[in-house]
Amino acid sequence: MPPDGRPAGAGPRVVASRYNQGMNRTFVNLDGSLVAPQDAKISVLDRGFLYGDSVYEVVRTYGGAPFELDAHLARLASSASRIGLSPKWDAARTRVEIDRTLAASRAHGTDAPDPQAAPWNRGERYIRVVMTRGAGEIGLDPALAIDPVAVVIVQPLHGPPARAYVEGVKVAVVGVRRPSPLALDPAAKTGAHLSHVLAVKEAREAGADEALLLDEQGFVTEGSSSNVFAVEEGKLRTPPLGAGILEGVTRGIVLRLAREERLAVEEMPLTPGDLARADELFITSTQREILPVARLGERPVGAGRPGPVTSALHRAFRRVAGGPVRVSERR
Ligand SMILES: Cc1ncc(COP(=O)(O)O)c(C=O)c1O
Repeated sequence: MPPDGRPAGAGPRVVASRYNQGMNRTFVNLDGSLVAPQDAKISVLDRGFLYGDSVYEVVRTYGGAPFELDAHLARLASSASRIGLSPKWDAARTRVEIDRTLAASRAHGTDAPDPQAAPWNRGERYIRVVMTRGAGEIGLDPALAIDPVAVVIVQPLHGPPARAYVEGVKVAVVGVRRPSPLALDPAAKTGAHLSHVLAVKEAREAGADEALLLDEQGFVTEGSSSNVFAVEEGKLRTPPLGAGILEGVTRGIVLRLAREERLAVEEMPLTPGDLARADELFITSTQREILPVARLGERPVGAGRPGPVTSALHRAFRRVAGGPVRVSERR
């Protein structure tokens, strides 16, 4: 029996062993120094640790190069300014440090092939950039922060498996609500994540891959780490930015592609009932691209498999991102 009292072989041990194996393929840049992940230590007084007082971005590579880096760096700067955080690095320095960390990761060689991976994820990298307000005397007042921290973490990308794109995934509308935009600016991508952590916990307990959060009035906002789209009567619908959501980089690309494909697009408030009536649903994020949703809670969405509009948009997205268009294509 492990020290935490869980039976041997239970889920957390599996996750822990994947975490340990992954450590030798994790590359960390801490304040400009490339350090082994086990040596990448920050102060327990850091406000990112104590209060989630930080901003971050998740970027991914295609063909080894960061995708839409300008947009991610612009959002990082905007997140920092929205919470009055002065980041340790500006965009130019962040770009340099991302490149250095990616180069270190590339020098390590290729990863063991994952037969379950979607072809566009094979050999690609996940990049997380975190800027904290820093350490200082304990206390909520941001003026106490004196030592901002900048971190880049590069790991092999673990996107959804190829099967998820063929069959679609399950999402659940959870009870946890997205914090009011009056409490926390939804356009800022911050480390204050507890409501989203609890939303994911609830979704996992319902056997779902992603949690959809409602606002206090019961309107759909977004996923825990994704934006959501519905297709009904041939129209593409998604909550507007005013619904209290993060302006997803992938969401922006999807809206542009949809207009280019001459699809009617409506950014409008959506209720859970609207999602239940939809012919197709999909979620978008940097790591997932455009991921079809086959089940909303216990009910099938449309025919219970990826629909034609979702597939057409994903094909268009694949052309923008480069590489294989279909799951069956191999690089
Ligand atoms: C709350 C939230 N919404 C939406 C997204 C999707 O954003 P992007 O497409 O830029 O990855 C994310 C990404 O992590 C997120 O955390």
